Amino acid sequence: MFGKKKQTPQIDKEQLALIKYAEKRIKQKKRVYIHFVVFLIGAVFLILANTVLGIGKNVTIAGLDWFVIAIIFWLALFIYHFISVFITHNFMGKDWEDQQREALVAKQQQRIEKLKAQFLKEETEIAKTQAYNEVLEDNSSSQKKKSELTIIVAAGENNAIGKDNDLIWHLSDDLKRFKSLTNGHHIIMGRKTFESFPKPLPNRTHIVITRQDNYKAPDGVIIVNNLEDALDAARHDNQPFIIGGGEIYKQSMALADKIEITRVHHRFEQADTFFPEIDTSTWKEIHRQFHEKDETHKFSFTFLTYVRQ
Ligand SMILES: NC(=O)c1ccc[n+]([C@@H]2O[C@H](COP(=O)([O-])OP(=O)(O)OC[C@H]3O[C@@H](n4cnc5c(N)ncnc54)[C@H](OP(=O)(O)O)[C@@H]3O)[C@@H](O)[C@H]2O)c1
Repeated sequence: MFGKKKQTPQIDKEQLALIKYAEKRIKQKKRVYIHFVVFLIGAVFLILANTVLGIGKNVTIAGLDWFVIAIIFWLALFIYHFISVFITHNFMGKDWEDQQREALVAKQQQRIEKLKAQFLKEETEIAKTQAYNEVLEDNSSSQKKKSELTIIVAAGENNAIGKDNDLIWHLSDDLKRFKSLTNGHHIIMGRKTFESFPKPLPNRTHIVITRQDNYKAPDGVIIVNNLEDALDAARHDNQPFIIGGGEIYKQSMALADKIEITRVHHRFEQADTFFPEIDTSTWKEIHRQFHEKDETHKFSFTFLTYVRQ
């Protein structure tokens, strides 16, 4: 039931006729050859039958021995056979054969041209597809290479992040982590956060967002007027960081790919600035590391990493 479909021959009628004709001619010529050999053997046999075995020794026809007549008759038959194969039975003649051959060659030529055109078309399609796939790959790899916008923050249990334009706690291990994660990257911040630093942090490119037109900042600090421009300024960084404060966090939550949050295990009721609630239907926790409180850390805290899901 599921056997292979029977192949239909791809030969046209002219081609088939010519092949059949060639086969027929071979057979005819073969038969002439066999006839000739049989005739020779037969003639020798007739001669021997008469002269050695004495068969019909005295039989003559028109004064000739019977075997001579028989050989002449057979020879005439053979000549007739030969002529009919090589001269009169030349099918439709040499011209016809030439015509057929030319027609066949022309037909094959056409077929070759058609195949060439088809091949060219297919090759073009393949090339187009390959080019298209390459573009897709390029796009997807460039998407893969897309920078990972990361929010980095330390927030209390009530999401408190600061008061009076300053931090509410000092946790040295958290600062170390902040430094190591942001080292060498672009750090994007609001004007107020920038002003909360005594001086720009070393080995980071500062991008400060302000609505002010002539905001003055030390050399090397990039000043922009909106978050989009800040992201644009950091486009060559594979991991730019949003480092605060409250206003900038709020605006970048929808754009960020990752959140590195230090959850400080205390409620800071006096705070005046807060981090937005992390919606766990949008963000998936992928890492956590607890840090106990000790002599240098007044509060216990947990490093948490979220990625957008
Ligand atoms: N716990 C933490 O991890 C952490 C991290 C960072 C900061 N903080 C704390 O957060 C507090 C500061 O946060 P904040 O919310 O008050 O201020 P902020 O976000 O640092 O900066 C706000 C300022 O940014 C500019 N700005 C905001 N949105 C803008 C926009 N769309 N286009 C142009 N400019 C824009 C405005 O500057 P102009 O007024 O000049 O126009 C605005 O006044 C401080 O207490 C700081 O210590 C905490």
